[in-house]
Amino acid sequence: MPLILGLETSCDETAAAVVRDGCEVLSNVVASQHELHERYAGVVPEIASRAHLERLMPVVQQALDDAACGLAQLDAIAVGNRPGLVGSLIVGVAAAKALAWSLDKPLLGVDHVRAHLHAAHLTSGLKPQASNLTYPALGLVVSGGHTSLYRLDALADLTVLGRTIDDAIGEAYDKAAVTLDAGYPGGPALDTLAQTGNPHAEGVPTLPVSMLKPGSLDFSFSGLKTALLYAVRGLPTPGNKAGKKSATFQYSAADLTPQRKADLAAAFQHAAVTAVERKLKRAIQQLADQGQPPQALILGGGVSANSELRRRVSTLGKKHDLAVHLPALEHCVDNAAMIAGYAHELLQRGETADLDLPVVATSRV
Ligand code: KG4
Ligand code: ZN
Repeated sequence: MPLILGLETSCDETAAAVVRDGCEVLSNVVASQHELHERYAGVVPEIASRAHLERLMPVVQQALDDAACGLAQLDAIAVGNRPGLVGSLIVGVAAAKALAWSLDKPLLGVDHVRAHLHAAHLTSGLKPQASNLTYPALGLVVSGGHTSLYRLDALADLTVLGRTIDDAIGEAYDKAAVTLDAGYPGGPALDTLAQTGNPHAEGVPTLPVSMLKPGSLDFSFSGLKTALLYAVRGLPTPGNKAGKKSATFQYSAADLTPQRKADLAAAFQHAAVTAVERKLKRAIQQLADQGQPPQALILGGGVSANSELRRRVSTLGKKHDLAVHLPALEHCVDNAAMIAGYAHELLQRGETADLDLPVVATSRV
């Protein structure tokens, strides 16, 4: 029953966790940096790296204490080494290497996107092999950096069916929250605001649901983001050509009544989630047309915490007889338990890393 310590520092959460046997979470500590980035309405990479440096070892100690586990009892050290902010990743990877080397334990480098697809197993407490994850399955990662749809034919056999051609859905949520002055972090704040709004209220524009080319399973959210901007602020007066004066708008979120703000948030949420839902339906249809209808749908990433998306995929699952695997809210957003959990698969396959494990800004999948 291997005991793995996982570290995660890819963006603005400093996280450590101890997981037994791939899916039993003994501790899961996340130190968020939201308070440091709030005034900039987005993550500032340099501030994030410095904060990881300060917080990582106390977070590791907390994870060991919560798990009532000493360093000597660990079987391996895992770390998210891609994708992410390079300066942030370096902090976690350097710490993991130091721990692995000094303890003489195996080191495992985990792709953060793959780990998001493992998160639902932490919630069920069932290993992928023991859960009703039958293949082919659809995997969907919806986060601040990714909107990617996969076909899974086995745990390690993953084919990209589609991905965003511009903004990730989480990024669009974060920008929409800035446009509506909804609060920080943007995704959860907009989700909460949308729940008191009506997307079909009189005078609320219908925001675009991007489908791209017929048959495409890619996503696009930049048009939706801009449509919301114009709905809130009106059409811009262009800046001058030399770029010395930026575009100006007539209105801002401060001109909206609270109800109108909530209605626009609901209209954004409706369009964003509908785009995902329609692509899932398309994928289900395409696989069925190939004679291999998907048996399961597995979600991960911060946006899989979204209330509307969770509702819609659950309904979709029932309609198409798909087993839907949704992580609990604490396993949706970035955490180290998913890193330690997925690392168990790597350990079993003997895919350990050397001390020259690199950090990489992009995902392998
Ligand atoms: O997976 P994650 O924690 O970090 C990345 O890998 O990017 O995802 C963070 C993203 C952010 O854009 C955040 O606003 C979004 O997930 N998010 C949500 C919700 N909770 C987090 N978006 C919509 N609704 C939510 N409830
Ligand atoms: Zn993530």
